[in-house]
Amino acid sequence: MLQPQPIPPFSCLDEEFLNILLDKMTDAFALHRIILDSQNKPCDYEFIRVNKSFELNTGFKASDIIGRRILEIAPDIENYWIENYGKVALTGEVLEFENYSKTLKKSFFCRAYQPRHGFFAVIFTDISNRLEQEKKEKILLEKLKSSEKLSALGELSSGVAHDYNNHIAGILGYASLITHHPEGSEKIKYYAKMIIQSAQHSADLSNRLLDFSRKSPTKVDSVDIEEVLRETLALCHRRIQDHAIIQHTEFLADHTRLRGNKESLLNAFLNIIINACDAMTQGGHLLIRTRNTLTEDDLQRLEFNRDMTLGAQLVIEIKDTGCGIDPEKIKRIFDPYFTTKGKKGTGLGLSSSYTTMQQHLAQIDVSSLPGIGTHFLIYFPIQDDNKTYLQMKNQHQNTHA
Ligand SMILES: Nc1ncnc2c1ncn2[C@@H]1O[C@H](COP(=O)(O)OP(=O)(O)OP(=O)(O)O)[C@@H](O)[C@H]1O
Ligand SMILES: [Mg+2]
Repeated sequence: MLQPQPIPPFSCLDEEFLNILLDKMTDAFALHRIILDSQNKPCDYEFIRVNKSFELNTGFKASDIIGRRILEIAPDIENYWIENYGKVALTGEVLEFENYSKTLKKSFFCRAYQPRHGFFAVIFTDISNRLEQEKKEKILLEKLKSSEKLSALGELSSGVAHDYNNHIAGILGYASLITHHPEGSEKIKYYAKMIIQSAQHSADLSNRLLDFSRKSPTKVDSVDIEEVLRETLALCHRRIQDHAIIQHTEFLADHTRLRGNKESLLNAFLNIIINACDAMTQGGHLLIRTRNTLTEDDLQRLEFNRDMTLGAQLVIEIKDTGCGIDPEKIKRIFDPYFTTKGKKGTGLGLSSSYTTMQQHLAQIDVSSLPGIGTHFLIYFPIQDDNKTYLQMKNQHQNTHA
């Protein structure tokens, strides 16, 4: 029969046992002695003991740092570390903080405490993965919020926009009768023309609102995106010239055809390019690029849209050297009615471009630096043997189910 093994009393815990204890810790541990200057102020500290996890997390070997001072190992360490750790070692205060180490390119949660006067121990855990995950969740949540806002706007506006369009049709009909009426004076006909123009603008606006409620483009055809971009640029030609903008096109893509609605795609590009022109009133450069290859940066942007990276893609870049967008505003540019143009803008341009891209299963992304410019990237999935992206996506989901 097995005899029960007695557990030795605490006083029997020897040095070897404590070493094992420290080295089995999953958190990093380091014990230090604070060094004071002639005025008894903390001016440096010495490494007394580190555990295995410390070596793994920092890349420093115990044999290289024990007995050495921090200013010898890292001469450019910020002074506040010595000050704060000094406070811990001399007052017994416990310090807890999160810190990003530029040298190690990692974030840590650290806790420093005083095991004995003049000494401080630091226990730290690598939290880089957790922070990275939190950052990704935040981005995803923001994307979700903006698509929820758009679908709410779609539901709300579709009913109103329908009735509204019927009334506008009435206004247009009567106004056009006035313009053709034999007894109408020139002045009255001119007023009627103005009514027609305004009513057409309103019809355009309500059609844009209706677009938000559509999950897919109304009429789908085979569309050559490069052709659409050329037409869009031709429509903006005047504006580009007036603003003394230098236009560059780099049509590098070989596969440029996809199934979609030409008109809504043209409008979506038009909104983005007009915004770019509005941002360059003092001139600048406008670059339109198409390509079929994905870069590392693209793969990061498509992280939440992995399916997209499976088939062939068409990437459209629209880049300007205009005023750029502030970081707090960039989160809102796809929100309906968000505008910085006062009465000159409706704030519906980019939100309708966003909806169009969603209808085409494309992803739209933006980066901007105030004073430097703005860069829009659009990722279109393209068809393989006439299969739609949706079919490709379903097929993929079925084979991986
Ligand atoms: N290329 C860009 N450079 C700088 N700011 C931009 C750019 N594109 C968009 N913006 C900002 O995003 C906001 C929203 O754009 P959006 O196209 O939705 O509306 P708008 O241009 O203000 O109005 P509308 O399109 O009806 O004329 C703009 O008001 C502007 O502040
Ligand atoms: Mg706009």
